Amino acid sequence: MSKTIKILLTGKDGQLGKALADKIPANFNIIALGRQQLDLSNEEACRQAVMEHRPDWVLNAGAYTAVDKAESEPELAMAVNAGAPRAFSQALSEIGGRLLQVSTDFVFNGSQGHPYHCDQPVDPINVYGATKAEGERLVQETLATTKYCILRTSWVYGPVGNNFCVTMLRLHRQKSAQNETLRVVADQIGCPTSTLNLAKACWSVINHEASGIHHFCDAGAASWYDFAIAIGDAGVAAGIINQSAKVVPITTSEYPTPAKRPGYSLLDCTTTKKALELDTNQWSKELSVVMEKISKLT
Ligand SMILES: NC(=O)c1ccc[n+]([C@@H]2O[C@H](COP(=O)([O-])OP(=O)(O)OC[C@H]3O[C@@H](n4cnc5c(N)ncnc54)[C@H](OP(=O)(O)O)[C@@H]3O)[C@@H](O)[C@H]2O)c1
Repeated sequence: MSKTIKILLTGKDGQLGKALADKIPANFNIIALGRQQLDLSNEEACRQAVMEHRPDWVLNAGAYTAVDKAESEPELAMAVNAGAPRAFSQALSEIGGRLLQVSTDFVFNGSQGHPYHCDQPVDPINVYGATKAEGERLVQETLATTKYCILRTSWVYGPVGNNFCVTMLRLHRQKSAQNETLRVVADQIGCPTSTLNLAKACWSVINHEASGIHHFCDAGAASWYDFAIAIGDAGVAAGIINQSAKVVPITTSEYPTPAKRPGYSLLDCTTTKKALELDTNQWSKELSVVMEKISKLT
């Protein structure tokens, strides 16, 4: 019989946290904490949680993810996205546990025009990206390489939570009913990644004791405009919406936001998929899987 692995999961009420809690491997014993149980902006509380539960792994899926709001709340974003992983790393180094720190494509500046490798230097262009990059740096500074895995991903969406897919379904429904168009940015390129697959990748990291920096996304590339069209089509096909709205491509400059976004943030996942023995479908196929789940919820 395989040994039970004790995991302290943060961010249990987030979209990734929920997908993780939905499919827990048989040999994993999960202590799942949300905001009510652990304030990630409190380093002492993060340390105490590790010392109390003494897990084999901390899976840090909690984060300050409000990219635009982070521009006006940099201290809070830094406390959650860098302070918490530092506290987890320090406590884990004392008890001999490991950390799975989920991170983001937004640690890169998005200007190189081809996919980013795991070992490329980070260069964030907004506060959120800077706080996640600092979190990565503190983990690497505190724990031996064999004791942490930083798993970067991109454009995360799933059946529940606050995400682009759920928002676009609502907008397709509203705009098509009013015979209006949907204007979506077409000059930012990345890859949508479903929480269902990302959760599998997280469990696989732990099962394989993967370490160092890894990249995991669904396969292919898209703009937000491509993604919005596909969401409309898949939403109709799954019977979630009656019709989709016409989607009009716009440029980033036509949709100003407080935080700058990387123009091209594809992550090269080749080595990670080999190491984790994971194969991923094109993002558009994975979107259909998520739509099936949503159709069962509505
Ligand atoms: N979403 C994306 O597109 C994306 C892309 C790349 C990487 N990532 C990374 O993927 C991971 C999972 O993100 P996600 O999409 O699941 O985000 P999410 O849905 O926003 O979930 C984050 C969770 O963290 C919790 N949290 C925030 N501040 C907290 C605090 N001070 N104390 C305790 N809990 C706190 C949130 O609680 P509340 O619900 O109460 O606010 C939420 O439940 C994060 O590391 C994120 O940086 C996300």
